[in-house]
Amino acid sequence: MEPKHCEARWQEEEYYYPSPDFIGQANCADSSVYDRFCLDNFPECFKEMAELLDWDKYWHTILDTSDAPCWKWFVGGKLNACYNCVDRHLKKYRNKTAIYFVPEPEEERILKITYQELWRRVNEMAALLQDFCGLKAGDRVTLHLPMTPELPITMLACARLGVIHSQVFAGFSGKACADRLVDAESEVLITMDVYYRAGSLLDHKQKADEAVKVAEEQGKKVKKVLIWQRYPGKYSSPTPLVEGRDFIVNDLLKNYYHKEVKPVSMPAEGTLFLMYTSGSTGKPKGVQHSIGGYLSYVTWMSKVIQDIHPEDVYWCMADIGWITGHSFVVYGPLALAASTVIYEGTPTYPDAERCWRIAEELGVNIFHTSPTAIRALRKAGEDLPLKYNYEFKHMTTVGEPIEPEVWRWYYKVIGKGKAVIVDTWWQTESGGFLCSTVPAIKPMKPGSAGPGVPGIHPVILDDEGNEIPPGSGKAGNLCIKNPWPGLMQTIWKDRERYVDTYYAKYCKNPKSKDWRDWPYMSGDAAVIAADGYVRILGRVDDVINVAGHRLGTKEIESAALTVEEIAEAAVVAVYDEIKGTVPHLYVSLKPGYDPSDEIAKKVTDAVCDIVGKIAKPAKVFIVPDMPKTRSGKILRRILAAISNKKEDLGDITTLSNPHVIEEIKRLVHG
Ligand code: WT7
Repeated sequence: MEPKHCEARWQEEEYYYPSPDFIGQANCADSSVYDRFCLDNFPECFKEMAELLDWDKYWHTILDTSDAPCWKWFVGGKLNACYNCVDRHLKKYRNKTAIYFVPEPEEERILKITYQELWRRVNEMAALLQDFCGLKAGDRVTLHLPMTPELPITMLACARLGVIHSQVFAGFSGKACADRLVDAESEVLITMDVYYRAGSLLDHKQKADEAVKVAEEQGKKVKKVLIWQRYPGKYSSPTPLVEGRDFIVNDLLKNYYHKEVKPVSMPAEGTLFLMYTSGSTGKPKGVQHSIGGYLSYVTWMSKVIQDIHPEDVYWCMADIGWITGHSFVVYGPLALAASTVIYEGTPTYPDAERCWRIAEELGVNIFHTSPTAIRALRKAGEDLPLKYNYEFKHMTTVGEPIEPEVWRWYYKVIGKGKAVIVDTWWQTESGGFLCSTVPAIKPMKPGSAGPGVPGIHPVILDDEGNEIPPGSGKAGNLCIKNPWPGLMQTIWKDRERYVDTYYAKYCKNPKSKDWRDWPYMSGDAAVIAADGYVRILGRVDDVINVAGHRLGTKEIESAALTVEEIAEAAVVAVYDEIKGTVPHLYVSLKPGYDPSDEIAKKVTDAVCDIVGKIAKPAKVFIVPDMPKTRSGKILRRILAAISNKKEDLGDITTLSNPHVIEEIKRLVHG
């Protein structure tokens, strides 16, 4: 089982141990947690997670497998996610900061929103959504919001009503937003006029116009576009409003000041949100997460793995437009009454010390980021963090494999040799962590995520479904033996794709109602060491990981194919010092066209317009022909080997056109 794209090449490392100070204050320092969550106690063990929440009605069945593999957790239970993240904290914490908003321009003040103020603003927004938009439980709303407090306020307002939110990463294009909106069948789009990123004020509202236009072409009419103002009271976008369709939220809210909306008591198996992610086909899939299972899972993980206490100031740098932001900027920390930091901009703007000024000023003590950000900060200045007076007790890395050398720098310099590190492996589909150390119990091992978190039982399977034993050094498909409450319910409107993608390969009896027959296939290749620690090698499917962002090669390729001159397109992942991997895009032209810089630029522009700037190819190569098998299949692995400057291109005997290899090599290497 070879990972298809990037590959973590390092060996097993030595352990690092948590400090007595950390262990002394940790939420979970008792190793019996692993016994409580052993497979013999499945599924009853998960009661412990649900008990972290306030329920309107207790559940009668902890796990219902009758519709396998669409698992139902805490059946019969009723609760409200917004109530659990806001209302229930008012008694004890009403004047405590719930959200710190750090605008990118440093001359703008940091905004503090207390739990009381959050409650107020969420109520008013919920009243607006209910009254002005007519939204009710089960309806979907698409959000295309940047990193500002209006995003969690809108999410929580939806959750209060039982409305399903579907937030699309603000960096995605209007067209990408439209595809997701159409799939979710939303009639309301909520956006913002402008926001700051890397020093410029971006016109975001124009993307809404594009989204509405494209959605309409696909047969979906957007009835209302709600626009938050980045600067309340002032519309800052140059793009005009459309009469009767576009509404300024900040104006409308005046009609709802001091309105209260009772949290709607929702079934545990109701849906909290959709989060679109990339897979093997060109069409992104709507990962559907439940209310009770998801919220129980992320709350417990925030408490045990992130070690969040109510008095902590917690900063997860992920964008809320990705699952990490949903689980670990919004739902997990707020469910635990912590103070969560939302930073609008890029970590290295205006300089590489920005993060440390923020951490120092706010007293951040838990820090959560990606290897890409760590590599960029390290490159910008090896010793800069040491100049600042912040003190982290805990740090997280997530989203891509971290090189042991980068890990050690994170530990020594950013963590000043004091903070514990958790390397958390998980996915949009999993809702919360799957592999990580419990920081006060298990030692850290640079470059390895760690064992399954309590309640998660990972296993490596070969292509025939045989278990590869830990310590054998052999790689295989990383699977999870058991379902868990944070696991997605299904793919929105596409159960077949859900079953095919995650279970078809290893389920021997598709009629079975026994969870043991349904190992979950993650799509990652990995090795498990003798100590049970999992080292992730990379994706085995057509997904590439660029700076911790998950991109479908097919989505990029289909965007390239919209350019008139292009006949074929192939994307490969190439090693990059900062971003882990970046996309190289190979294209061939239709007869009658000659390669030119203009065509290459048209291709790049098409990818940025259709997918978004995050998918921008690092290089576009116009090749005379693609390396192909006799049956005409493009051999992407050969292109990847060339782009990665590998001497050994692997087996090329199946090629129908081996002569193109030398030509492509010349083009790529000059
Ligand atoms: C893919 C999931 C996890 C939330 C953010 C990304 C890769 C994730 C790690 C890690 C090595 C990792 C995997 C996974 N990945 N965490 N700690 N070490 N690789 O969620 O966008 O759904 O991407 O990210 O390949 O399958 P996502």
